[in-house]
Amino acid sequence: MSAAPDVLVVGGGVVGSAVAWWLAREGVSVTLLERGELAAGASGAAAGMLAPIGEDAGRGGPLLHAGLRALAGMDALCEELRERSGIDPEWRRSGILRVARDDAEAARLQAQASARPELGLELGWLDGAALRAEEPLVALGVRGALLSPREGHVRSPLLARAFARAAASLGARVETGVAVRALVRDAGGVVRGARTAAGDLPAGLVVLCAGVWTGALAGAAGAGEASDRALPIEPVRGQILSLDAPLPTLRSIVWGGSTYLVPKGDGTIVVGATEERVGFDCRVTAAGLRGLLDAAPRLVPALAGCTFRGAWAGLRPSAPDHLPLVGAWPGTIGLFVAAGHHRNGVLLASVTGEIVAGLVLGKDVPPCARDFAPARFGPTGSAA
Ligand code: GLY
Repeated sequence: MSAAPDVLVVGGGVVGSAVAWWLAREGVSVTLLERGELAAGASGAAAGMLAPIGEDAGRGGPLLHAGLRALAGMDALCEELRERSGIDPEWRRSGILRVARDDAEAARLQAQASARPELGLELGWLDGAALRAEEPLVALGVRGALLSPREGHVRSPLLARAFARAAASLGARVETGVAVRALVRDAGGVVRGARTAAGDLPAGLVVLCAGVWTGALAGAAGAGEASDRALPIEPVRGQILSLDAPLPTLRSIVWGGSTYLVPKGDGTIVVGATEERVGFDCRVTAAGLRGLLDAAPRLVPALAGCTFRGAWAGLRPSAPDHLPLVGAWPGTIGLFVAAGHHRNGVLLASVTGEIVAGLVLGKDVPPCARDFAPARFGPTGSAA
């Protein structure tokens, strides 16, 4: 391999691709290595929602703030990526209807509708009649819905490819089919690059963006030994399926309980998702599909008659506090991680790239960078 880049990004999912894009945009020499195809892992399996409200579970914390920052930047980001890469990530500000299936959910969602107007999300409560005027396909028993018009969805593999191609257009080297076997450390323990089948690639800094495989790579670099703590990222399987949409289809994402229905531009509805701690098992199972296929028509009865198109699964990389780890891995010089985005890799990809680029260049970073710092899990961190 030739010319050492300043930064070597390992992993071509939506997060690694976004990191490469932000660095390239700042003029940093960057190489992105992906062992398979771009977006072959969790990014390829995701429904592609940008939904900070639901994922924050009402905590009002860093996830919400980072998510709102991501949402606010989405129109301009996708426009810039489309121009640079020629790929349209299919960002649609479709809105999300979080539906109330009983009185308790109605009370909770109605309270959310009037809370925190300063966030600018334009939330509103729709009673049953107003909901069915908005989305006639929603089940009659549904009491109402929290309408969140500013959230939406992308096609996440397209977003990853758009980031990577836009980075390449700015000089980044993007190589697929190149697996990193280990990280290269010098005698002082400093990470100096990565080992691949094609040889060692030296780099000033390595950023691991390998989703659930990030921990194994960090361990191979001795990060666990150096910090006396392994990277705390666990796989959480999400199974997902798609159906041909009824005609006319849904306009908004409809979300009830743990089930969401995302109407895509190709005439399908994506139904997600399970949340299962089954290790690195990425299979689609009968039980997983049965749960989704039972739940979807309870929200939108017409889905029971729709053609089944396919099903797949991805492994969400999850830290114990469900926040991502973005920044320097404590105790190991030359190593950053950007992983552990749990259910929010698509939502937080761009903010993650912004944080990494800011840290690398010593620039200002968004306030959430403090909450996402991997040091919270290091030897003296508080979240471990
Ligand atoms: N972002 C939704 C999920 O992970 O299921």
